[in-house]
Amino acid sequence: MTFNTLNFETCADGVGLLQINRPKALNALNEELFSEFKSFLNMISEDNNIRCLIITGAGDKSFVAGADIKEMQNMSPQQARTLSNRGQEVFNAIEQLAVPVIACVNGFALGGGMELVLACDFVVSSNKAKYGLPEVSLGLIPGYGGTQRLARSIGVHRAKMMTFTGNIYSAQELYEWGLISKLVSPEELLEETQNIASVIAQRAPVAVAKAKASINAMRDLSITDGLEMEQDCFSSLFSTQDYMTGVNAFIEKKKPVFSGN
Ligand code: CAA
Repeated sequence: MTFNTLNFETCADGVGLLQINRPKALNALNEELFSEFKSFLNMISEDNNIRCLIITGAGDKSFVAGADIKEMQNMSPQQARTLSNRGQEVFNAIEQLAVPVIACVNGFALGGGMELVLACDFVVSSNKAKYGLPEVSLGLIPGYGGTQRLARSIGVHRAKMMTFTGNIYSAQELYEWGLISKLVSPEELLEETQNIASVIAQRAPVAVAKAKASINAMRDLSITDGLEMEQDCFSSLFSTQDYMTGVNAFIEKKKPVFSGN
């Protein structure tokens, strides 16, 4: 499958690298891009060879500078609801993808770009990247999940400050607030992210998927129901081949090679 607004390659064993590719518009998310993103996610969810996905932006200036403002000009409230719904649908699909998704943030992550970051499982960032939700400067609010996911990530008070000011924040600040898991120089960014992704790709895929689902469920469940879900996920893994592979490899002092079954 080929795309106009996305580049995809397998960059290491089991690791997929998706590049948002509209550098002239600082990788702003337009209609075509969302449509291709949806097709891409369907494709990747069927591909057992990809065990970890990295998302980054084309060019050295921007990860994603938000929704395409030019496309939003003159939209009716009804059209805007459709736009918001479609963006949320794609970002929910990223969150629910079985494989981990790492945001590899190489530059501006603003508006919808920041919301894309929030839908990923964790963030490796260039120390030169800039983050923000500038929607209030346009007379809008975040519409791709930002009002819901940011507070759950950095806490409600910091989320309100970011959202109400619309200001741009440094990667260092967001690292200190816990949104960014690893902060590196622009030169090291891709290699560092690939190294982390390669480690994940070598782990038991069903176990990693269950861990992702169980951690994600924390958001919507009480601690009692969450612990119950953890028991379900934990116990179900005892019927997988990978569990046998992992335990036998430990006992035989070998490196496990997991089949994903
Ligand atoms: N939509 C459409 N085009 C965009 C864009 C966006 N979000 N961001 C940048 N571009 C375009 C610019 O219009 C410009 O195109 P032209 O060369 O054709 O004029 C090109 O990308 C380069 O941008 P700049 O010249 O502005 O570059 P800069 O270095 O001076 O500034 C920037 C960089 C600070 C990121 C600035 O481009 C900017 O503020 N962009 C908009 C950021 C923003 O407000 N994002 C939120 C969008 S709303 C949203 O996302 C809603 C939602 O939640 C659903």
